[in-house]
Amino acid sequence: MLASKRILLIIGGGIAAYKSLDLIRRLRERGAAVTPVLTRAGEEFVTPLSVSALAGEKVYRDLFDLTDEAEMGHIQLSRSADLIVVAPATADLMGKMVAGLANDLASTLLMATDTPVLIAPAMNVRMWDHPATRRNRHQLAADGAMFVGPNEGDMACGEYGPGRMSEPLEIVAAIEAALGQGPLSGRRILVTSGPTHEPIDPVRYIANRSSGAQGAAVAQALASLGAEVVFVTGPAEVPPPAGVQVVRVESAGEMSDAVDAALPVDAGVFAAAVADWRVASASGRKLKKSKDGLPSLELAENPDILKRVAHMGEGRPRLIVGFAAETDNVIEHATAKRARKGCDWIVANDVSPETGIMGGSENAVVLITEDGAEEWPRMGKDAVAERLAQRIAAALAE
Ligand code: CTP
Repeated sequence: MLASKRILLIIGGGIAAYKSLDLIRRLRERGAAVTPVLTRAGEEFVTPLSVSALAGEKVYRDLFDLTDEAEMGHIQLSRSADLIVVAPATADLMGKMVAGLANDLASTLLMATDTPVLIAPAMNVRMWDHPATRRNRHQLAADGAMFVGPNEGDMACGEYGPGRMSEPLEIVAAIEAALGQGPLSGRRILVTSGPTHEPIDPVRYIANRSSGAQGAAVAQALASLGAEVVFVTGPAEVPPPAGVQVVRVESAGEMSDAVDAALPVDAGVFAAAVADWRVASASGRKLKKSKDGLPSLELAENPDILKRVAHMGEGRPRLIVGFAAETDNVIEHATAKRARKGCDWIVANDVSPETGIMGGSENAVVLITEDGAEEWPRMGKDAVAERLAQRIAAALAE
């Protein structure tokens, strides 16, 4: 619930502005008061009348509006809010925020306040991937702004990819989390993710094909429900989500140490594809070809991080979720793995090459709990993550 919370909603100029009308409705249903600010470009997509009718408040549009200044100055306007939400946040608005420009009402409000800011970007996929936007979003995150989305999917411009604004209910969840109102607020959760690299010598390593996509999606979903997330990641292809504490590691040994340092936590989600073996005595110098024949690599077993944490007596997280990547007899193997590892749940999936799951954007999982196996339909990795995060929230609430 958002009763008595004041949201200043800045609506930028993008086709996604129509979703902001629904967002206003959803926020008001939950008891929030919404003060809308419409940029000039935003007015091209939604009318001031529909915005103010839904918000039940005047819509603010002009920096130099004498009536507004008499009623409530722009400084006051931004400071009286509990949270500023920019939805849709265009590439232009993000650029202005980074540059510190204040040449219209929206950018001036954002400069004139220390109220927390939540950004819901919406733009064409090329614009989102442009080096300037990449720089801007990193800078905004470093300046303390929070992000929700964008999502991946079909775009109004006919292209496909990341850039679609998050759906209104996702933005509501992010607002609740930002205001400490999410179902996981006050909970600290550890997520391991990505592959590990086990050094052979300073330039070579043993690795695996994990992209880190599922782990990053789980971390994001948990954070958007309000959890404080410690994200321990190996060298993954997919970047870590915003709004989580990132701990980068290379090898299984480093991951194990980072996990210990993150404890205590309320729950641990072990999505990393940890190498089972490392090279027993990795060379400190580059191995050279020699006339004496091929080098032989002796392997040693890596620590099983999940098993160790699951068997901790005192200090064991209340809920421990492991992952199992299998290629055959998925339910049988994953059920045995749950018992062997001592974890509470196993998220199992079939990674046979024909499923296209490893390295792909979709997943078809079976959740193994003490009550048995629950098959989830095939869905995007983000959707799997959201469903899992909801289940974790429900389990920790018991
Ligand atoms: N795991 C871990 N540390 C390891 C190996 C695995 O924490 N050294 C975790 C993974 O993060 C995952 C779970 O254990 O949550 C299962 O990983 P998997 O590689 O499928 O299990 P293995 O123990 O390697 O089992 P098997 O080789 O029999 O498939």
